[in-house]
Amino acid sequence: MSCNEYSDDTSRPGGSPSRTLANSDTRSLDSGLGLSSEASLSSLRDQAEAVFYKRFGCKPQLLVAAPGRVNLIGDHVDYNDGFALPMAIDKYVVIACAPKDECSSSTASVFSACLNEEVCIPLNEYPAPDERRWDSYIKGVLAGFLDRSAKIPSLNAVILSNVPLGAGLSSSAALEVAVATLFEALAEMRLDPKEKALLCQRAEHQFAGVPCGIMDQFCSIFGMRDHLILLDCVSHEISPVPFESDEVILLVANTNVQHELIDGEYAKRRDECASALSKLGASSYRAVTKERLEANRDSLSPPERRRARHVVSESHRTILASDALRRKQWARVGELMYSSHSSLSRDFDVSCNELDLLVDIARQLGPECGVYGSRMTGGGFGGCTVSLVKKLHLEAIMRVLQHQYEDETGFPLDVSAISPSQGAQVLKN
Ligand code: GLA
Repeated sequence: MSCNEYSDDTSRPGGSPSRTLANSDTRSLDSGLGLSSEASLSSLRDQAEAVFYKRFGCKPQLLVAAPGRVNLIGDHVDYNDGFALPMAIDKYVVIACAPKDECSSSTASVFSACLNEEVCIPLNEYPAPDERRWDSYIKGVLAGFLDRSAKIPSLNAVILSNVPLGAGLSSSAALEVAVATLFEALAEMRLDPKEKALLCQRAEHQFAGVPCGIMDQFCSIFGMRDHLILLDCVSHEISPVPFESDEVILLVANTNVQHELIDGEYAKRRDECASALSKLGASSYRAVTKERLEANRDSLSPPERRRARHVVSESHRTILASDALRRKQWARVGELMYSSHSSLSRDFDVSCNELDLLVDIARQLGPECGVYGSRMTGGGFGGCTVSLVKKLHLEAIMRVLQHQYEDETGFPLDVSAISPSQGAQVLKN
């Protein structure tokens, strides 16, 4: 059973020591290869049912699931009015639940199978944020439902997850969205899916103290099998981009490191981007072109200039990449992925040696050895890369990445082929 829950690269209250092994159990990503998304989800579901029965002595009546995500391109632009191109992955947070009898008060007894910890959360009083605890995500979502006058009956629940911790694959958004999906069913209150995503984002801002953008929660809700999701972060429109091919596949490689910078640096990047925008005299990055940036470059500090250059170029690349994907122009998609990585590494300063090393190894393999492109994905400072590779060369590429990375860093590398999966779902009601 893998136990990688409730936290993410940008969502680890309190931070972590410099260059730590992100999670002792991130090996779970290995098990993605060869398993269909249904198999992976159904085994997690079986485990959740079994743990629930053992803990609460009855069968769960309601089961929900919400996935993590990988972003193909378009990072650090969701909070800058840009475009992102993520996909839901077949790694899920699953919650098994049943109502419990309680006459005097209404509470949720929630057991985290992975942390082996149970919390009791009052359901009819407004929760107080406690950023350092995993249940703050649940409380944040509860607050959003109480704001809408939802009545949630007393319940017992078990939470289980195989979304790797600290890998930049949005385990926290998956938890928020799973809880929101559960509360929708229990309160018989169906939210508009966009409103639901924004509720979850607010939970993360206000209860986990992480000023994240909207990509992760949207993707966990709107994820579609065999499709990437082109997300317009201004209008919140979603355009599905088909991704299914006999020729190519996406590969995720988990560096298994997480650098301590992530908490403060994420917020700092947001501030730098906002400050650059105001000095450019614009109210949205949508109105900032390359030319406008160049014409006003002297009004920005050198870091602001680089941050703004990343935002403007990355959004543009994302649109180009979605067009190239629709046309199956794999080499073009690959080039854009490499440019995106350089921009994140040099202009946005959110990469790290381990991510750069993986991208370099991939680049050296090149199309002759089956690699079209590679880049870091998500918030950065550790976590994962995503690569576009030829199916035919998949196993050889995985071996080379693992050997070279492990030789040079001493850290294990988890690699797995991934395909776009379905977003949040009720598995049983
Ligand atoms: C984290 C945040 C997202 C997004 C990415 C970077 O995952 O939660 O909102 O900003 O970083 O693209």
